[in-house]
Amino acid sequence: MSSHSQEVVRRLTAPDITARKGGKPIVCLTAYTAPMAGILDNHCDLLLVGDSLGMVVHGLPNTVGVTLEMMILHGQAVMRGSRKAMVVVDMPFGSYEGSAEVAYANAARVMKETGASAVKVEAGQAVVENIAYLTARGIPVMGHVGLRPQAVMTDGGFRAKGRSDEERRRILDDARATAEAGAFAVVVEGVAEGLAREITLAIPVPAIGIGASAGCDGQILVTDDMLGLFDWTPKFVRRYADLRGEIDRAVAGYAADVRERRFPGPAEIYFAKAG
Ligand code: KIV
Repeated sequence: MSSHSQEVVRRLTAPDITARKGGKPIVCLTAYTAPMAGILDNHCDLLLVGDSLGMVVHGLPNTVGVTLEMMILHGQAVMRGSRKAMVVVDMPFGSYEGSAEVAYANAARVMKETGASAVKVEAGQAVVENIAYLTARGIPVMGHVGLRPQAVMTDGGFRAKGRSDEERRRILDDARATAEAGAFAVVVEGVAEGLAREITLAIPVPAIGIGASAGCDGQILVTDDMLGLFDWTPKFVRRYADLRGEIDRAVAGYAADVRERRFPGPAEIYFAKAG
């Protein structure tokens, strides 16, 4: 028997998150790498391996070019770096919309190859049947309504949604249908505050807001946005740090030390053993 006592930690599950409806707000952030997941895991209930990684990590102009392989690679890293938080992996554009069978094959692959607990899909009436197909076959699904970044080509940009009556009704219907299809939670992105509250009251599972309302059952942000890693911050993001500035100052210090031969110093080099 090993003398090491390894603390057994149970990861949060989809039912745990659903049970938080109307309770203590659910803390969610995006994660793409193992070391960052390790830091966030101490504070978050849910880590989303968002397809925003296409823009944040890979420098793509939007999320349309993100592949299943990219999601799996980052999903594996986040699972390795975290122990407690529920990990949800985004299904990328083109991997779940075409048919229920294709959605199932791709979502099952993500779950098997990453070990994550659920997938997320951008939900509209067109994919509600596919969500029901997945949830009926053992794949927990998180929906995503309102501003749907994968629809950037048809929408013509990232604009807040639900400002007209017709759009409000459609988004509310999307949220209701997604919950009815068995989603364990629904991300509500970029909608007017009143609509976000209405959705939160209308669905029986947690509404997770981003650019939505403090009245939602939980909140999510892109971690790199809230840490101040970009020089532009969307209106709905609160910057909790200025890591871009910190990194810039640190690298400037390193560059100056290298150029002036101040680095490495005596404490940072190896010496031959005497004798
Ligand atoms: O891809 C992503 O990071 C997301 C969140 C911002 C909700 O979908």
